Amino acid sequence: MFWGALLLLFSSNVVAERHDADLMSFVTLPEVRALKWEITYYDRERMAPGYWFVAPYGQISPEHPTQKYQQYQVGPYIYDDNGVLIWAGSPLYDNHNTFDFKPVHNIDDNPHLSFIVGWEFDNSKKGHGAIVNNKYEVEKEVQVVNELHDFNMHEFNIMDGGKTALACTYRSQVVNMADFGRPTEESWVTTGGFVELDVETSEVLVEWDSYDKIALHESNMFNAWDSPAGEPGWDYVHINAVDKNEAGDYLISLRFTNTIYLISGQDGNIVWRLGGLESNFDQDFTFSKQHDVKFVSSNGTHHVISVLNNASDERGNDENVSAALIIELDTAVVPMTARVIRRINRPDGGLTRLRGSVRVLPNENIFVGWSERGYSSEHASNGDLLMTARFASERYSTYRSFKGEFTGRPSAPPDLVASVYGTDEEDTTTLLYVSWNGATDVVKWNFYAQAYDRGEPVFIGSVNKTDFETMFIADGYMDWVSAQAIDADGNVMHTSVTVRTEIPTNWKSAGWDGNASGPSPDDPSIIAAANKNLGSSSGSSSDNDSDSNAISGDESADLINDGTSTGSSGSSSHSNSQYADAKEVAKAVYTAYDIIRGVGSLLIFILVACTLGGAGYAIWHAIRARRSRSYQHVPSEEGLPTEEIHLTSAPRE
Ligand SMILES: *[C@@H]1O[C@H](CO)[C@@H](O)[C@H](O)[C@H]1NC(C)=O
Ligand SMILES: *[C@@H]1O[C@H](CO)[C@@H](O)[C@H](O)[C@H]1NC(C)=O
Ligand SMILES: *[C@@H]1O[C@H](CO)[C@@H](O)[C@H](O)[C@H]1NC(C)=O
Ligand SMILES: *[C@@H]1O[C@H](CO)[C@@H](O)[C@H](O)[C@H]1NC(C)=O
Ligand SMILES: *[C@@H]1O[C@H](CO)[C@@H](O)[C@H](O)[C@H]1NC(C)=O
Repeated sequence: MFWGALLLLFSSNVVAERHDADLMSFVTLPEVRALKWEITYYDRERMAPGYWFVAPYGQISPEHPTQKYQQYQVGPYIYDDNGVLIWAGSPLYDNHNTFDFKPVHNIDDNPHLSFIVGWEFDNSKKGHGAIVNNKYEVEKEVQVVNELHDFNMHEFNIMDGGKTALACTYRSQVVNMADFGRPTEESWVTTGGFVELDVETSEVLVEWDSYDKIALHESNMFNAWDSPAGEPGWDYVHINAVDKNEAGDYLISLRFTNTIYLISGQDGNIVWRLGGLESNFDQDFTFSKQHDVKFVSSNGTHHVISVLNNASDERGNDENVSAALIIELDTAVVPMTARVIRRINRPDGGLTRLRGSVRVLPNENIFVGWSERGYSSEHASNGDLLMTARFASERYSTYRSFKGEFTGRPSAPPDLVASVYGTDEEDTTTLLYVSWNGATDVVKWNFYAQAYDRGEPVFIGSVNKTDFETMFIADGYMDWVSAQAIDADGNVMHTSVTVRTEIPTNWKSAGWDGNASGPSPDDPSIIAAANKNLGSSSGSSSDNDSDSNAISGDESADLINDGTSTGSSGSSSHSNSQYADAKEVAKAVYTAYDIIRGVGSLLIFILVACTLGGAGYAIWHAIRARRSRSYQHVPSEEGLPTEEIHLTSAPRE
């Protein structure tokens, strides 16, 4: 009946909420709706290690807040390459759009994350560049310190050592139109430039602007006969990327001149142009409307750069397919040469109309973000397609997508939620859900229950982690529960706070056929011991037993569908007299704990423990006597196998 009601609830939910079935939802993080992925693997063996870093947004400009509560969907997100959520970062900046979200390994020995937080919808804040450590604490917020409208969304590029960062700038200025043959006229233009900022103080250390460096005629956006514009003016260059090499020169991409420029770090002059109307290179390829231009290597005379050639924009396309290009530049020869050493066409043959990114990974694989709908692909160094992925939802894009290794160790503890249901005293079940937002490398969850708030945590089972959220079904009514994240070496990484199990608002409507106050909680040590015994007598290990109860993450929705069978098979295997006996003892002990809590007297505790311990031992002994194989653990004085009583050793902060 309980399952029937839940099933009904679930299916009506599906009908009503079909449009958001492309979002994940979690019991432990109810405020988060992370995007689901559609993934196709072509050769998983050759994929690079690492996680995906994306920052989905619905619309690029900040949305007006409404009175309506909105769940977290946009902002920085980390996934593994199964599409399993690792970190939902949207709560950190309250659902603000973020851009250029990526792992950063050049600050110190610890991995960091960096991203741009978008400006405020009412321009009350200009946005900023954020650096977050791997405990998910904000370490630096790099501000716009001058008159610029915002921290431009295109680039937040942290230089080696983490002392400085590069950002793009857009500035409205008045220019004389002499370059268009109209020296008596002026127009507003939006010039493009970059700054190198001090990460600590946000001070501008280096500033470059196209104003006196790039003539109007280099732009493919405006014509000599166009009428002069008012503020903010012609967006005539549209800078969208900046990088710096060891020699201290800057590589910039101007989308509306179809040109990549090397800017001297000495004097700010243009060293060379690649592409566009005034290319200095002998080149055997074309590109246009390029994005995310970065150095792969650079030694003074030879540069290897990566470029996303989206070859298309809202005004039309110059080529039929967008591509990632790895280009080798030789500036020691005359004329200088530019050669494509790797061209990776967009796997679906499409055109990237919106932004994008390309990076060469440490193992020389190439990861490309085609932007719209989060479409991304990974390729071997020879270009072979290994994987494509995109958001299940059409409503979101990400400006750039990255892949990289990362170790996340959140300072916040894991989130645990538990609830109990049941039809009578002998048939209660506790559902536990746990997740740890941002943690990498958790392989297993151990679950513990306590008879009362200061009781000893008793191990009640463990489940391998396969999804963001892990579910565990415990027999009985476990009132005080906690969970431990376990790494591959079996170490405890962190422990959740001990939470109390939620009870149905109305026991009757949850199928309970006892009296209205519902069941009383069980003593976990007795239930755990009984399960252990039943487990070994039926020939299966207790690990297998608990694992068979485990359902992870998204599959918890399926559980509700299949719940009838899962639930009843779980309980029927234990609906025998031994189990009922154990439950009786559990109740008695729990009642005793209740008394202790009320009276708080050590003497009474000892008296009660001795009395009940004796009764428990007697029943325990009876159970053992009836079993064919004897229990290998030595019962303690209370009749509980000591090995099963695990004290949590990790500090609980
Ligand atoms: C730069 O790299 C190229 C190609 O690897 C090499 O031929 C050249 O000698 C290098 N130049 C310097 C200054 O190291
Ligand atoms: C695009 O494809 C069409 C048809 O396949 C072809 O005629 C055209 O030349 C192509 N354009 C470019 C720029 O490659
Ligand atoms: C849990 O993970 C361990 C180690 O990877 C593995 O040996 C075991 O089979 C897994 N258990 C289940 C039920 O998948
Ligand atoms: C309900 O059951 C509990 C425990 O069995 C008992 O203590 C309590 O008095 C009962 N309440 C009613 C209203 O019957
Ligand atoms: C686990 O339980 C399942 C189902 O009862 C059984 O088929 C399987 O052999 C068991 N595995 C182990 C390792 O005991």
